[in-house]
Amino acid sequence: MKKFIALMLAMVMVFALCACGNDSKNDTDADAKDYSSMTLDELKAELKTVNEGKLTVATSPDFAPYEFYSLDADGNATLAGFDIAFAQYIADKLGLELNIVPMDFDGTLAELQAKNVDIGMAGYSPDPKRESIMSFTKIYYNGGQSFITSKAKADEITSLEAANNAKYKIGAQTGSIQMDLAEANTPDADNIGLTKVPDIIAEVVSGKLDGAFMETIVAKAYQAQYEDLVIVCDVPYEQEGSAIGVNKDNEVLLAAMNLIIDEAINDGSLQKFVDEAGILAVGDKYEGLLDDAGHVPAADDTAADTAA
Ligand code: ARG
Repeated sequence: MKKFIALMLAMVMVFALCACGNDSKNDTDADAKDYSSMTLDELKAELKTVNEGKLTVATSPDFAPYEFYSLDADGNATLAGFDIAFAQYIADKLGLELNIVPMDFDGTLAELQAKNVDIGMAGYSPDPKRESIMSFTKIYYNGGQSFITSKAKADEITSLEAANNAKYKIGAQTGSIQMDLAEANTPDADNIGLTKVPDIIAEVVSGKLDGAFMETIVAKAYQAQYEDLVIVCDVPYEQEGSAIGVNKDNEVLLAAMNLIIDEAINDGSLQKFVDEAGILAVGDKYEGLLDDAGHVPAADDTAADTAA
């Protein structure tokens, strides 16, 4: 009897679902909805974010031209970079207010893992090791990896093989895939993790570090500031390109982001953001975190590029 009732109930439910019409293809399988086949408007109707009405984004602004602070003539700092411009584009498409939270790079990973933010935009490589703590969108920017040194050591350190020597100190950002590249390519060297990219650059230029692993476009941006910086070679890396990290709970947002990435690539916006960030990045800038009052910290003044 129980079985019969259950069967009847199931049949009633199937009828009810069919009666809903065909405006949504996924009604019959609500648990495993195929969000990737929905339109942006359909996704927006279902979208929830950690702070209602807002898109909360973690970033690490030490990474020109991805994200950094652009300084005006009075030294006032404004967040800039192609990730930042793209974040605004995404928020506009979603009809949300943009709320960017700057922090150290390893902090962006932790905040996404803790689900305190909706997305992380920090020039992420879609590292499979991170897939348990975030979902990755498709690639929105194709970049590569480089090994850098200073002019003073460029004659000696001419390749990764030459750099792989116990007498060398090699830098990479803590928590980044560059740390893995260091372990894979220069395992015999003393590989050192530093929290902030500008500190790595400063130490390579001053000779405290003998070399470092760095995103190619970032190394090039720093070369405009430090003429003693030398890009030795490309470093092979399987997960080429940058993706956006999405809160693992939010499949609707992930699907929406993938649609928006397509749109931004196709309408030329992304290329425009990259070009504009490239121009801003050679001007006065600061890479790191501001103090509580929103100013470039006094102790870090020397790290700001005020030469231009
Ligand atoms: N692409 C590298 C990674 O995902 C480095 C990203 C560093 N980003 C930053 N904003 N400092 O590990």
